[in-house]
Amino acid sequence: MKFIRLVLGALAALWLASVHAQGEDVTRIVGTVCAECHGMDGNSTSSKIPKLAGQQKGYLLGQLKAYRDQSRNGADAHAYMWSNSQKYDDTMLGKLVDYFAAQKHTRNAPGDAQLEAKGKAIFEKGIASKKVPACVLCHARGAVGMGIVPRLAGQHREYLVKQIKVFHSDDRPVYARIMQSVVEKLTDEEAEQVATYLQGL
Ligand code: HEC
Ligand code: HEC
Repeated sequence: MKFIRLVLGALAALWLASVHAQGEDVTRIVGTVCAECHGMDGNSTSSKIPKLAGQQKGYLLGQLKAYRDQSRNGADAHAYMWSNSQKYDDTMLGKLVDYFAAQKHTRNAPGDAQLEAKGKAIFEKGIASKKVPACVLCHARGAVGMGIVPRLAGQHREYLVKQIKVFHSDDRPVYARIMQSVVEKLTDEEAEQVATYLQGL
């Protein structure tokens, strides 16, 4: 009996130690690698670097894998994210995703009210005359996203505008095809309007 208790005790200690080590690992990676650009809580302060806080897990995992296999392309993907996703296996990517998805996103200062109003109309209704679909259909109410469809609420305006331009190219893989047809007829001005609305949510 005593022996069994000893073995069980040792196993429990090992299990606790490994859970602890796994938890430490991901926080350490975030602290020493990702935080420099994305912030410890996933709320990057530079408007060129996307916020990750509260982002959808399915979307985050898809993007990290796409940077790792270099199918998400373009100068910034290459310069910043190819090397930063290379070292991690699927289990670690999953932990990074869980970490950032669980962070609370901070709100940005509101933008120009007129641009916001025009952007809100595009988000909710689309632009019927050009067959641009309403963004809310996929990005959900409040632009919180769903699964592989990203949260856009509270994202930086500059980053959003840039990605809308990126979708005009073939630099993003697979699911970006869906966005390619959405942005096809969107002008730079309209992209600016919808991004201004979204960054203020
Ligand atoms: C040196 C700066 C830098 C570091 C370090 C960095 N990133 Fe990034 N990250 C960026 C930039 C810039 C982009 C936008 C790249 C693009 O346009 O494709 C980005 C994009 C992303 C995206 C895509 C977000 C979206 O909305 O599509 C994810 C996910 C991400 N990074 C996760 C991470 C994780 C996890 C780490 C740590 C392991 C990390 N990054 C480290 C700069 C950085
Ligand atoms: C039919 C569904 C659908 C509609 C409608 C749609 N989107 Fe998307 N959107 C997606 C998907 C799926 C992705 C992820 C693409 C990927 O994985 O590269 C995405 C990604 C994005 C991104 C990239 C975010 C990031 O963090 O990099 C932006 C910006 C965006 N959409 C803006 C819009 C805007 C603005 C509208 C409305 C004019 C819109 N979307 C309408 C499905 C949609």
